[in-house]
Amino acid sequence: MTERNNRKWHPGQSGQSGRSAEQRLGILEWLRPGEYEHAEETLQLLRALKVESLRTGLSWADWHTPEGRKWFDWLIPTVAREVELLPCFTYTPPSLGIEPKTSSPPRNPKDYADFIDVMITDYGRHFEWLELWNEPNNLNDWDWILDPDWQIFAEMIGMAAHWAKKRGKKTVLGGMCPTDPNWLNMMCSRGTVDWIDALALHGFPGTWEFSGESWNDKIDKIRVVLDAYTLSPELWLTEVGYSTWRHDEINQVKVLIEAVTAPLDRVYWYSAFDLHPHENHQDGFHEDERHYHFGLKTADGTPKLICRVWQESGLAGLHDLVASVAQSSAELSRKPLVIVGGREKSSASATSSRKAEKKAVLITGGAGFIGTNVAERLLRQGETVLIFDNLGRPGVERNLEYLCDTFGSRVQVEIADVRNSHLVRDAVSRASRIFHLAAQVAVTTSIDFPQLDFDTNVRGTLNILEALREMTAPPPLLFTSTNKVYGALEEVSLKSNTTRYHPVKRRYAAGIDETHRLDFHSPYGCSKGSADQYVLDYARTYGIRAVVFRMSCIYGPHQFGNEDQGWVAHFLIQALQDNPLILYGDGRQVRDILFVGDLVEAMFAAFDNISRVAGRAFNIGGGAANSISLLELLPRIESMAGRSCRYSLADWRQGDQKYYVTDTGLFRQLTGWQPATTIEAGLLQLYEWVVMHLSEQQTVRFSPVSVTKGGLRNAPIR
Ligand SMILES: NC(=O)c1ccc[n+]([C@@H]2O[C@H](COP(=O)([O-])OP(=O)(O)OC[C@H]3O[C@@H](n4cnc5c(N)ncnc54)[C@H](O)[C@@H]3O)[C@@H](O)[C@H]2O)c1
Repeated sequence: MTERNNRKWHPGQSGQSGRSAEQRLGILEWLRPGEYEHAEETLQLLRALKVESLRTGLSWADWHTPEGRKWFDWLIPTVAREVELLPCFTYTPPSLGIEPKTSSPPRNPKDYADFIDVMITDYGRHFEWLELWNEPNNLNDWDWILDPDWQIFAEMIGMAAHWAKKRGKKTVLGGMCPTDPNWLNMMCSRGTVDWIDALALHGFPGTWEFSGESWNDKIDKIRVVLDAYTLSPELWLTEVGYSTWRHDEINQVKVLIEAVTAPLDRVYWYSAFDLHPHENHQDGFHEDERHYHFGLKTADGTPKLICRVWQESGLAGLHDLVASVAQSSAELSRKPLVIVGGREKSSASATSSRKAEKKAVLITGGAGFIGTNVAERLLRQGETVLIFDNLGRPGVERNLEYLCDTFGSRVQVEIADVRNSHLVRDAVSRASRIFHLAAQVAVTTSIDFPQLDFDTNVRGTLNILEALREMTAPPPLLFTSTNKVYGALEEVSLKSNTTRYHPVKRRYAAGIDETHRLDFHSPYGCSKGSADQYVLDYARTYGIRAVVFRMSCIYGPHQFGNEDQGWVAHFLIQALQDNPLILYGDGRQVRDILFVGDLVEAMFAAFDNISRVAGRAFNIGGGAANSISLLELLPRIESMAGRSCRYSLADWRQGDQKYYVTDTGLFRQLTGWQPATTIEAGLLQLYEWVVMHLSEQQTVRFSPVSVTKGGLRNAPIR
């Protein structure tokens, strides 16, 4: 995407501190006493992202408990050993408050200054800056009803700031949330800001307390107040973040980029991890779901889009991603775009002109392996495609980049999630036909994260179907189901030789047909199977023209195969990198593999014959002629890689079929389609793609020269 738009990011310096964007950016994580592992994981993430500053809250109330002191003794030096620490000292010990609660003003304002003095004495060697209180105009943090004219607060902070300065430290006045020039004016008039070195703001675009104003607007209003008192503290954004509760992860990236490009001296991104769903938030247990989705990573440690791109290509990569998406959307609407709430909005006239525009072919999961091949074929035919993908699968952003670079503005991109029904509805309304491919695709992942699998595969598909149901003339839909809906096929008795299993009964010689009983195994089997049944039922009940493909193993270019999914590509990549393989089971399990080009032909045939195939499910695969066992694939891979494959055997995976070959007879009968690519020819195309594309990343580890060994002597290597 970077090359396509030839945009390079040079954010340079901003604010008074003269720091680069990378140096200005830190992370905020609230770490509570005893959360040693959480703290270590946070530091690990900072290291991975090359972030050099951490802001965290340190509770004055906790300091009054034995566990709290032990925690301070461990946390402060541990963090400071690795990164710059910005401690935010907040929360009144209930015993010292006007009321016995942590948000209460203390009875004696000087107590806080005394506490800050102790902190500097005991830990001051570990930090240069300290933040005085957190969100003072938020009732949960400072109960201003108990301090109606803010006398106690002004006095308490003024004394602490004055004292900290005397002790050689710099202070930040706890971040306003919301940004309130009137409140700031009151603090300035009381002299509280006189000793302050930096003034902080907080804000969470797209969520509560955040007006539509840009950071620049807010900063301008603050400057007016500061100028009136001839004050010029640095301006810090000590807490900014975006909740991905609506699965709109691209907006998290946009909000971060807007924050780091604003004229601020420091920015602290909230947060490293999502709040764990079993924990309480200050506002209550799931009282407001948004509080639970601010992380760069989910609570189970899965990196979100922002985290993956940041780790791989830094802030520049995040900036390029935002710029590319903005360009694609702007091309679509031909109007400048702004973020409003969950998604980009264009002006009313742009929206209506968009509706009048020619519809596009919608491909959910269009950046993925199959989606990219479908898109490429459509684009070569001159069609416009709308790729709707959350880039959830690592590596697929490179497919998207390829499509955008090759086909330009005929590729419309929506970095969005099928779990978000609003975005799905919008995309479906712009579609002339729909390939619904987006899915959680791995059985292994479904076993570890069945809810994610359900939400993506069942809820995501239902969102598409519901959007279609609302339309007066819904476009046709193709849904990609899986052979896993037939379960482990234990009823198919098998015999075996040294390399593969064979069915005993002749009735399975041509493979498994659609009359085979459904038997969902594994959460993935259940979710894809449910979605498969929903699609068929929406066709039956609501007359939607929808067809289901129950697909066997597909392989070919643009496949970022890994151990969990895409085994043919995975085997080849591992062999080329000289990495050992693990074969789960005995390696004699059989699959019919289908080259992706043939699958795309089948999909086109389905749309061409939609009236004949709608409302039906078809088994689609390479058929008996293209069946192969894992052990039989290995020598073919070895001849391409030019080296022998090292492998070991491990236990069978749950629900793994020992034998699955597709009987494609029904689909052939209705459409005339049949696979045209032999295994040898298909593997060669996959090999060429792997060598050409993965070698860009891993030049040293690949050896294209070795193709001259074995059966691929004439392979054209680009
Ligand atoms: N490849 C096969 O052998 C095979 C076999 C049977 C069925 N299928 C089905 O075919 C479809 C495509 O598979 P593929 O091999 O191209 O997989 P893929 O992982 O390469 O592509 C899936 C795409 O969906 C996107 N995605 C994932 N979750 C999403 C979400 N919540 N919202 C929006 N996008 C999301 C991913 O980023 C990815 O680009 C899937 O539905 C899969 O279940 C594939």
